[in-house]
Amino acid sequence: MTIFDDLDHIVAEARNALAAAVDADAVDRLRHELLGRSGRLTALMHQLGSVPAGERPALGQRANEVRRELEVALADRLTELQSSDLERRLATETVDMSGPGRPVPIGHLHPVQTLMRDLREIFHSFGFEVFEGPEVETEEYNFELLNIPPDHPARDLWDTLFVAEPGSVEAGKPEPAKDGTILRTHTSPVQVRAMLALDAPIRVLTPGRCFRYEAVDASHGFEFFQVEGLVVDRDTSLADLKGMLEEISRALYGEGTRTRFRPGYYPFTEPSVAFDIGCLVCGGDGCPACGRSGWMTILGAGMIHPIVLRNGGFDPDEFQGYAFGMGPDRMTMLRHGIGDIRLFFSADARFTSQFPAGR
Ligand code: DAH
Repeated sequence: MTIFDDLDHIVAEARNALAAAVDADAVDRLRHELLGRSGRLTALMHQLGSVPAGERPALGQRANEVRRELEVALADRLTELQSSDLERRLATETVDMSGPGRPVPIGHLHPVQTLMRDLREIFHSFGFEVFEGPEVETEEYNFELLNIPPDHPARDLWDTLFVAEPGSVEAGKPEPAKDGTILRTHTSPVQVRAMLALDAPIRVLTPGRCFRYEAVDASHGFEFFQVEGLVVDRDTSLADLKGMLEEISRALYGEGTRTRFRPGYYPFTEPSVAFDIGCLVCGGDGCPACGRSGWMTILGAGMIHPIVLRNGGFDPDEFQGYAFGMGPDRMTMLRHGIGDIRLFFSADARFTSQFPAGR
């Protein structure tokens, strides 16, 4: 048996073994056994030294051929196995492209935000644009400029959250900031800001967060929303205000909604009114939700007080205007029959997810 025979033998054996290899790993092991550093071919090459010098070139050439043959055979078998593996997977693993997708949970607006958006839409069709003001206000804008002087009893209506004078908390004696910085108790201060910023005619809607030092219960929060409206022009009247509020109530609560004006009091409007809609729960017969009156108050309004107009830079002999302030939290409660305002700030998805379509 010559080394030549051995070489032929290796090739023949390798072909059989390759044919029997079932996967890529088996092919890899064979590659190692045959061509690896301590593989059979390498071992045979080490014997080259013992071959007569004349035979060496021919043997070396044959050995190189065998190496190439083996490499090709190994590669071919690997490709064969891989493609049959692919075929098998294509045949057994199927993806149904027509199947429905997995639902991706996405959020939606909070019901109070939805209502405020609806208000924005409705008022937009009446020519109102949004004008926002700061949540951290000054007493001047929140009270003084709205005709509520420091000693005015009306200040009792707004239980104010003050911002502390710098250093006073650390000193153990918290006191209100000397520069009058407070959290706004209503969106009305934006009336004056809008008048100072814009030229007449003004038609603005001011949605925003407000804060009051309130004991929290089912109908009061220390944090809540208001939407303020302001119109300043040369020829506006209480009749305009009334007509518009009636239209808006119908747009929001339905065609048949009944409305009424009642006298009210606010220092920054004269005359002032309260605006009611027929109770959405009982339809007007009287029930616990409406205090058995058949009516629900949804906003306060009035003609802008001449002093406030002047504070906003308008001459009350030339301009008039009206303003109104709505409580979107309460309006949302009425819309959905929600009994407790605290749910709005509970951050509880079991609650908020009940209003997915935004209604
Ligand atoms: N700012 C008032 C409040 O917080 C609501 C209000 C009443 C706003 C009458 C107005 C208005 O613009 O005219 O209770």
